[in-house]
Amino acid sequence: MKYLSHLVIILLAAAISMSCVAYRAHHPASPEAPGLKDYYRDYFPIGVAVSGYALHTDEAGLVTRQFNSITPENAMKMSVIHPGEQQYNWRDADSIAAFARRNGMKLRGHTLVWHNQAPKWIFKDANGQQVSKDVLLQRLKEHIMTVVKRYKGIVYAWDVANEVISDRKDEFYRNSLWYQICGEEYIEKAFQWAHEADPDALLFYNDYNEINTVKREKMIRMLNNLVSKGVPVHGVGLQAHWAVNEPSAEQLDKTMADFAKLGLKIQITEFDVSVYRKEHEMRSREAGDSAMEFTAVKEQQQLEQFRRCFESFRKYRDVLTGVTFWNISDRYSWLDNFPVRGRKDYPLLFDKELQPKKAFWAVVKF
Ligand code: GLA
Repeated sequence: MKYLSHLVIILLAAAISMSCVAYRAHHPASPEAPGLKDYYRDYFPIGVAVSGYALHTDEAGLVTRQFNSITPENAMKMSVIHPGEQQYNWRDADSIAAFARRNGMKLRGHTLVWHNQAPKWIFKDANGQQVSKDVLLQRLKEHIMTVVKRYKGIVYAWDVANEVISDRKDEFYRNSLWYQICGEEYIEKAFQWAHEADPDALLFYNDYNEINTVKREKMIRMLNNLVSKGVPVHGVGLQAHWAVNEPSAEQLDKTMADFAKLGLKIQITEFDVSVYRKEHEMRSREAGDSAMEFTAVKEQQQLEQFRRCFESFRKYRDVLTGVTFWNISDRYSWLDNFPVRGRKDYPLLFDKELQPKKAFWAVVKF
């Protein structure tokens, strides 16, 4: 009897230790388990947008296990990093760059010129009047030179210009203050200065609504034009803020095929799949959606969309040189409260507890 109970204890201990081994090998939270970056090692780097703050929380472990590239979500945007004419704020950007260095990760720089999150001072003189084209270009040059040189050697790719093309059918360039004051010249100058500051960095044009035929044609027209003028542009960033119902497989394939023809590198730069439907690239309300949970139906729709997207990404591996998610886990996404206040979204591959969702497994099994 005594021997029998010993035997039971030994067998139990063996079973527990075997299941621990299995846990370590398969559970994505375990340090030895393969992460997204490992499944996609032979395809492209897998990145994620981060804040300096998140890298001081338990999300940091998830970031290093699953990803091999990071993009600062806000820390390198002009209003954050250059809040006053004589004032640079390096704190968060430096800490993100140090994190990338420490963990051997790639770092994407985001972004050098954008109509949003641009500081007010840059467009105004000491009397509060709008500055001239010469002054604005000089300020932009100083900004780009300073920021790009600081991160030379750690930032391998910059989103130089962000969203300069209009979404309106009757308008080519976005009618931003940059455009009103400088015309289109600021775009090519931004690429030239970034190249001067760091000749080794890959320079991207980044935009959204890339699945829309009219917008895509404009993006392609502008990029071809820049290339033909000898402007140093190396790639196009597709933001890929998509949803359960958009793009369709055909739309996505056409988008990738059209951009592939450019002869530039393509990166997916801000990927997420909202659980709320988009109609013609517009996000709208759904009945009762402010109380919406991540239901089994949404979970399945999202899984299918993630699977379709990664199938397409793998197909275009020759031109696709990176896939970056916009935010780490469903604990926080920029889509929470946007565009519907009080509405939570669940657009990523990890849940609020940082566990892989079913869609994770759909993306890594191929
Ligand atoms: C755009 C910008 C990103 C980010 C998202 C929303 O796509 O490029 O930096 O601000 O909007 O958060």
